[in-house]
Amino acid sequence: MAGVDHLVRTTREQADFCQALGSPLYAALLRRCADDIDAGGPTARVLAGHEDDPGSAATPLRLLGSVHRLVLQGEAPALAAYYPSAGGHAESDGAWLAFRNVLDQQAERLAPLLGQPPQTNEVGRASALAGGLLHLVRERDLPVALHEIGSSAGLNLRADAFWYSAADGTTAWGPPDSPVRLPGAWAGATPPLEAALRIVSRSGSDVAPIDPTSDEGRLRLLSYVWPDQIERFERVQHAIEVARRIPATVEACDAATAVRRLEPVRGQWTVLWHSVMWQYLASDDQAAITQHIESVGATATAAAPLAHLSLEPRRREPDEEPTFLVALQTWPGGAQRILGTGAAHGIPTTWEL
Ligand SMILES: C[S@@+](CC[C@H](N)C(=O)[O-])C[C@H]1O[C@@H](n2cnc3c(N)ncnc32)[C@H](O)[C@@H]1O
Repeated sequence: MAGVDHLVRTTREQADFCQALGSPLYAALLRRCADDIDAGGPTARVLAGHEDDPGSAATPLRLLGSVHRLVLQGEAPALAAYYPSAGGHAESDGAWLAFRNVLDQQAERLAPLLGQPPQTNEVGRASALAGGLLHLVRERDLPVALHEIGSSAGLNLRADAFWYSAADGTTAWGPPDSPVRLPGAWAGATPPLEAALRIVSRSGSDVAPIDPTSDEGRLRLLSYVWPDQIERFERVQHAIEVARRIPATVEACDAATAVRRLEPVRGQWTVLWHSVMWQYLASDDQAAITQHIESVGATATAAAPLAHLSLEPRRREPDEEPTFLVALQTWPGGAQRILGTGAAHGIPTTWEL
């Protein structure tokens, strides 16, 4: 019974997170799931064997993502009527009845899907990358060789193909006809829009890369986006379209190994970029990566410079709460600056410089 109590508790906690992060539909469904686990209903049967999963396994999100996958595949039409991602209208009472039926009738389909950890690729975080790169090329007008670690599907390796506008509507940047539209992407200071950004290579790596150009990769990416967050959902859909047009590689490789291959190249900015992945690294790997970047930086020259650009939750001062800081460090010299702050899903990036 202790296991069931733990599962009920983690499901309620996840419901609160969903509420706080703007998914009232998932918050309502998870509250019903928690009650249903307690009562030994279909949710308890589908999650049998997962009662002692650690919180880090995000079992409630695995369940939601697995059911969303069935919706997106057209295998749960009654529930689709309540999922905005499938053209439906969110309404929690009706959604719960349909959700419960899916659990009751498709338990065997769901069991293997629960083994997959949730994985997302947040397109909104490109707002920090694109603005950061503009700062960089203003500093030295060179083409950019972009290297990303923890890329997931590598959607943001195409950040220069997305369209961004300031929260006050006064400025915009990027191809006006881009399908990826990020209105309100930037607040605060205006990034140097006059700087000429030319990305000449795009390579990423991840321990579990997703191929956004495959049907399976597309389904996997979309199923973990919360269905009542339609803007996020559409951003991923449109970024997949862009990814099908603009090639980039995402290799299966851990970050510490990928960083060991970094080498400054004459006539280019070599840029190492990452977003919301640092917390998943072992502390030994974090230290090894930091040390390696410093030693590669020591070999950088004005003609072959290096930059480290990141959007990660960090403390600005030891006694402050972590916030999503956009940080840029460049070599030669190793000058480090905080360019601004972001948000969990990237938008807006509030520029300080
Ligand atoms: C929260 S996701 C962020 C993905 C992407 N950077 C974004 O902002 O949308 C974290 C990513 O880090 C990857 N990851 C976790 N540990 C890793 C490691 N040791 N080396 C490389 N990637 C890792 C995960 O597979 C996942 O794709």
